[in-house]
Amino acid sequence: MSDPDSRTGKRYATEAILAYLDRIHAGHDTGLEAAFTTPEREGIPAIMVSPSEGRLLELILRMIAAKKVVEIGTLVGYSAIRMAAALPAHGKLWSIEADPKHAEVARRNIAAAGCADRVEVVEGPARDILSSLEVHGPFDAVFVDADKGSYDHYGTWAEANLRQGGLLLGDNAHLFGNLLDESDTARAMRRFHERAAQVFHSTCIPTPDGLLLAIKK
Ligand SMILES: C[S@@+](CC[C@H](N)C(=O)[O-])C[C@H]1O[C@@H](n2cnc3c(N)ncnc32)[C@H](O)[C@@H]1O
Repeated sequence: MSDPDSRTGKRYATEAILAYLDRIHAGHDTGLEAAFTTPEREGIPAIMVSPSEGRLLELILRMIAAKKVVEIGTLVGYSAIRMAAALPAHGKLWSIEADPKHAEVARRNIAAAGCADRVEVVEGPARDILSSLEVHGPFDAVFVDADKGSYDHYGTWAEANLRQGGLLLGDNAHLFGNLLDESDTARAMRRFHERAAQVFHSTCIPTPDGLLLAIKK
């Protein structure tokens, strides 16, 4: 829900409006619906992007005709299925997931959604996995959505492995309201923002959680 407008005190994005917009612009087919409702059924935290945020990721990838994408943090595959919709038949998304149960559920959801030819779930901690993906680069986009204290590391990896004009995206870029704290995680997230602002064309889209969007110069 948006903050009240500072002049009028009105809230424009009510829960009902947001639910309507999710339904109209970001509706689910069977595969997306199955993935979106998996956490509830499997006792996994429902911490995936919202339908409209997932659709935004898909549209951003369509805008740049992305063919090769890396995601850090798969969960149950919801954002991966969203992004796969933007890829051509020969495109590929490598999605890294540290938790074996999440990886297994995600593979199932991705197969059921008909995306297994374009999405590979790579299991393990991203810091260990990323170097093994470099052979497939340079990439068109890197979407970071995993352990927040490593965002600066992931941003640096993206900087080195994106093509010119490639996109760095980072979810939860407001750090749940804690971005300005004096914690190691907040400092890492601020380094992620500050480096992106320095070496990319960047902004932080004011989604509820904050979505960093940066274009490699
Ligand atoms: C917010 S969820 C990802 C949501 C997913 N991108 C979506 O929107 O559908 C974060 C995921 O990152 C995984 N994760 C956390 N730390 C990780 C790490 N160091 N390497 C790889 N995956 C990690 C967690 O197990 C969790 O499944």
